[in-house]
Amino acid sequence: MFSVVANWKMNLSISEARAYLELFFAHHPPLDKIELLMAPPFTVLPYLSTMIHQNRFKIASQNVYWESKGAFTGEISPPMLRDLSCTHVIVGHSERRQYFLESNEQVANKARAVLHAGMIPIVCVGEDMLAYKEGRTEQIIKSQLALFKEFEPVWIAYEPLWSIGSGHIPSSQEIAKANHTIKAELPQCRVLYGGSVSSQTLPELMKVKPLDGFLVGGLSLKPLEFCTFLQELAST
Ligand code: PGA
Repeated sequence: MFSVVANWKMNLSISEARAYLELFFAHHPPLDKIELLMAPPFTVLPYLSTMIHQNRFKIASQNVYWESKGAFTGEISPPMLRDLSCTHVIVGHSERRQYFLESNEQVANKARAVLHAGMIPIVCVGEDMLAYKEGRTEQIIKSQLALFKEFEPVWIAYEPLWSIGSGHIPSSQEIAKANHTIKAELPQCRVLYGGSVSSQTLPELMKVKPLDGFLVGGLSLKPLEFCTFLQELAST
């Protein structure tokens, strides 16, 4: 089934999340056709974990630490996320690599710990604008994937940094080429695209093969538009 991961980033309090879900589910998102994962901030995970059964979505975390427990002030471990019904964890999002200086090694440690705890890591990769202009996308993706060859199950989200929040996406041929590179490196993975996914970009994105899902940021914060997008996606 096609998967859509809604990355709320650092947005929505518990009361805002409650209002969001009421509006979203009142508009009948087509969850019989799409596997939906909500990735809220840590603080909203307990509330969402009480809602999964009636609303048929799964829960992903946006981040994790790789140790199970101990003196790591401020961190959250994989078993703690499992406890809150998380099935997937996003690791290595470009915002974490950029603002929190996460290295490939740290991302791999996180993904390994996520697997060990029985969840699926969603590993983000992608090139910046300079690398895109210089035609180094394939090279960047290969170097980012080098530590993940043995990981299974694993989802890889191809997210060009310059596309995130910009309204611009690569052409369907460019995304397909990146996805082929990813599948050639990790044949066992599922491959997602992320970066300015919206109703406007959907027609171009639907030409991409192979494609197993989307990682959606900004759009997923607008419940009605997000619901409309999912309906359009389900009817393509
Ligand atoms: P966007 O973000 O959909 O707002 O471009 C995607 C992401 O950062 O995961």
